[in-house]
Amino acid sequence: MKKIRRIGILNGGGDCPGLNAVTRAVVRSACIYHGWEVLGIFESFDGLIWPDKTKPLGPYQVRGILPVGGTILGTTNRGDPFAYKTGSDGNPQVNDFSQRVIDNFKKHKLDALVVVGGDGTLSIALKFHKLGLPVIGVPKTIDNDLSATDKTFGFDTALHTATDAIDKIHTTAASHGRVMFIEVMGRDAGWIALEAGMAGGADVILIPEIPFSLRKILEKMARRESSGSKFSLVVVAEGSKVRPNDPVVKRFATKDLLKNHSIGNVVGQLVGRSTGREVRVTVLGHIQRGGSPSPLDRILSTRFGVAAAGLVAQRQFGRMVCLKGSTISSVSLQRAVGRLKTVPPKSEIVQAARAIGISFGDR
Ligand code: F6P
Repeated sequence: MKKIRRIGILNGGGDCPGLNAVTRAVVRSACIYHGWEVLGIFESFDGLIWPDKTKPLGPYQVRGILPVGGTILGTTNRGDPFAYKTGSDGNPQVNDFSQRVIDNFKKHKLDALVVVGGDGTLSIALKFHKLGLPVIGVPKTIDNDLSATDKTFGFDTALHTATDAIDKIHTTAASHGRVMFIEVMGRDAGWIALEAGMAGGADVILIPEIPFSLRKILEKMARRESSGSKFSLVVVAEGSKVRPNDPVVKRFATKDLLKNHSIGNVVGQLVGRSTGREVRVTVLGHIQRGGSPSPLDRILSTRFGVAAAGLVAQRQFGRMVCLKGSTISSVSLQRAVGRLKTVPPKSEIVQAARAIGISFGDR
């Protein structure tokens, strides 16, 4: 069996708190425990497409990065080597640069490649594995929507950020008697909205998995008012959808509102227009992707990084590290990618939220 001497690591997709902690753990365990060299590859697969986008990493180079947000390796959510866009707006070109990646992998004398990314990046990693590259995946996303792992690092930090924001908005909502909308990330899955909403005491939580009706939101607010609560907190996942043919949308929405505004703004405006209530909307956006990882995320990232190096040592290529219960394990990339973990509408956590009076805008 070929001896492992040198491995590469890259990050792909949107950044996420804990990426640096993974890099540090891979580098430290590779160098200190296994005795290998590590090459940092910059800006996702771009680092293996273009020259001068790599740098050797040892324990010294990863000093101090454990608590630092972002990624020292840089990342991109463009740049699929199998469909790489070049050219200008007037003359766009789509190139297959996959062979360049394979050639540069060989040129750098790499024996394995650790790819840290979400579903898109890991799907690319799987394609390279099928072409013969010895690849190991590490799952990453603040959205926590990868089905092959119970948790992804970054989620806990994002949850803290979103909950902290809801707490702050809560007090100003109460002072002014306003209806406050807080839009959080979650294009396909509503985990951040659901959990931050529950943690922050939201009255209404809107998630992509449960299409909502404006009337139901208004009814919930009316119930709160009649019980003496002058304000309401509505947490909205960015991928939430209103039910088709909603009468409030038909009556109060303009084309501009529906076309040019995020869902939090759309629902906020519609509630304001239809009730005359004072409404404010806060879109948290990328603040959820930044900042120092929580202790939980630092530990999960570290365990994932060490496990990824362990899979390289065992030559378990084509696999992705994952968390099952409280144990770090692994799963084939083939089984891991393309399967989103969305919020089951009938799950215990949704039932628990309903049981304490949280509305999902559907009943
Ligand atoms: O990581 C996924 C995510 O957080 C989504 O919830 C969000 O839609 C997306 O990133 C935004 O990414 P960007 O603005 O970097 O394209």
